[in-house]
Amino acid sequence: MKIFSLYNIKGGVGKTTTAVNLAYLSAQDGARTLIWDLDPQGSTSFYFCVKPEVKGGTKELLSNHPDIKPMLRMTGFPNLDLLPADISYRHMESELEDQSKPMLALQKLLKPLQKHYDHLIIDCPPGIGLVAENIFQLSNTLVVPLIPTPLSLRAYNRLVQFLVKRRSNRLHVLPFFNMINEHKPIHRAVTRNVFSGHPIFMQSIIPESNLIEAMGIKRAPIFSYARESQEATAYRNLWNEIKQREARRTAATGKGKDLKTEPTAS
Ligand SMILES: Nc1ncnc2c1ncn2[C@@H]1O[C@H](COP(=O)(O)OP(=O)(O)OP(=O)(O)O)[C@@H](O)[C@H]1O
Ligand SMILES: [Mg+2]
Repeated sequence: MKIFSLYNIKGGVGKTTTAVNLAYLSAQDGARTLIWDLDPQGSTSFYFCVKPEVKGGTKELLSNHPDIKPMLRMTGFPNLDLLPADISYRHMESELEDQSKPMLALQKLLKPLQKHYDHLIIDCPPGIGLVAENIFQLSNTLVVPLIPTPLSLRAYNRLVQFLVKRRSNRLHVLPFFNMINEHKPIHRAVTRNVFSGHPIFMQSIIPESNLIEAMGIKRAPIFSYARESQEATAYRNLWNEIKQREARRTAATGKGKDLKTEPTAS
């Protein structure tokens, strides 16, 4: 099971929106896909019209032998299941502190799911506490949406520095720009600067768009109501680029280990 986590220290950058659309595309490829709504806000669960509730909540998840299978929900889309959010996830940081191996607790609970799914897409909450440290341990790839502003880049640089300090070099980090508005000079300037000097950034971008924002009204991936739109194509391009990068990296590193994350100059 390959694990792709939608992560950023910052909130409101498009983690959930992207997770929902990439999970849909993964399932469309025929890959058995699970999307995990790890955010107590429960936005991914909302998009799939699933009640954000998990029996036993964080305590059950972090128990010695959690019973995960009954927590899984169908999304109504072929090949795509959901592990919903629960409001108790807001206590996850402190519950993790009480674990014998606080940074490996979430990895442990995913073990029984390994053979049932090809891809796990995780919608992470913002922040850089113990939940994030677990995500860095268990993910193959960290997909990082960034709004093209200097502050966003600064937050990204801090993340890279943190990962280098933690020696999390096996983690594949794939930043991309979301909510690009080409009418904004700052967006144009930041993207031009980054694309010219930092090949680690994905070339695929997602525009700022009312059609994407409408997911909140439609409560569904964009492909359900605007399959032929430019925005849907932008998500397809993003998913294809993620898969290509992941395949290239796996080929270059055997088991996909030891590839260095590349910090960007701010
Ligand atoms: N490309 C886009 N164009 C327009 N609106 C977008 C786009 N991507 C996301 N949004 C909107 O921006 C808001 C924040 O998006 P989203 O919830 O995906 O961010 P997030 O990083 O998951 O936030 P949080 O940190 O609170 O979980 C939402 O209202 C969403 O509809
Ligand atoms: Mg979110």
